[in-house]
Amino acid sequence: MGTILFHLLHVMYIIQDRIVGGYAPAPNSIKYIVSLQTTKGQHFCGGSLVHKYWVLTAAHCNIGTDEMMIVAGDYSLSMFEGTEQYSKPHRLIPHPLYNKTTNNADIMLIKMRVPMVMGSYVSLAPLPRQGTGVMAGRVCRVSGWGYTSLGEGQIPSTLRTVKLPIVSSARCNSSESFNGNITSNMICAGYNAGGKDACKGDSGGPLVCEGRVYGVVSWGNGCGDAKFPGVYTAVSKFRRWVDRTIYSSYTRCLKY
Ligand SMILES: *[C@@H]1O[C@H](CO)[C@@H](O)[C@H](O)[C@H]1NC(C)=O
Ligand SMILES: *[C@@H]1O[C@H](CO)[C@@H](O)[C@H](O)[C@H]1NC(C)=O
Ligand SMILES: *[C@@H]1O[C@H](CO)[C@@H](O)[C@H](O)[C@H]1NC(C)=O
Repeated sequence: MGTILFHLLHVMYIIQDRIVGGYAPAPNSIKYIVSLQTTKGQHFCGGSLVHKYWVLTAAHCNIGTDEMMIVAGDYSLSMFEGTEQYSKPHRLIPHPLYNKTTNNADIMLIKMRVPMVMGSYVSLAPLPRQGTGVMAGRVCRVSGWGYTSLGEGQIPSTLRTVKLPIVSSARCNSSESFNGNITSNMICAGYNAGGKDACKGDSGGPLVCEGRVYGVVSWGNGCGDAKFPGVYTAVSKFRRWVDRTIYSSYTRCLKY
């Protein structure tokens, strides 16, 4: 299997790359993105706010409830901007089919202890309907706070974003690329020439197509490699699970 973008045992490495070939979006223009941080304030994954109490991220970002802090309304991680909102997780719900060997079903919901307040800096991410696809060639946008690779001098820790076209599963799964490791729960995005990609530390963050979060940054093989596009969890395959999980937490009070 290709290298996973975030590995618990390599917390110090994940922080070394960032969105490859991207640019800084206008501050607070992507209002549903959240930074998942350790309780010491170290960013390690991204996520999307899908409900005032819930964040959607990757299952491989599961470091345990006690270790995690969720930050919404952020732009620069190194500065306090006054727009940030913080919450601790109440419960982490990785998808029951998540397989860390194959990266299949790499998706997780986080229920927060305190709800985020919607406003000028924080909003909810629209999700695709169950089973809806996104065509190869369609240009989407992935965002995250992965850090600079060399870490020399000042780390400009503002949010980055990059536009990428969807790559067909057939091509992504071919012997020229991931060679049979792409499941129907994954989508791929990247340019033929490489050079633009999500990277370590961007895991769990949103791949947005037509205004909806179609993908969650999951895994890859290097970053920006022409042969290997980025691989994302296909959110439309899990829309029903997301809705059911959130809904059942309110109807069956004892469950979560
Ligand atoms: C994960 O997938 C591998 C390869 O298909 C399989 O052998 C393994 O049993 C799976 N693990 C779990 C926990 O389902
Ligand atoms: C596909 O998965 C197999 C088994 O996990 C691994 O040995 C191989 O390197 C992977 N290939 C690619 C291109 O990811
Ligand atoms: C990728 O190839 C493997 C091996 O041929 C296959 O089992 C799997 O279903 C393929 N994935 C997709 C999305 O077609």
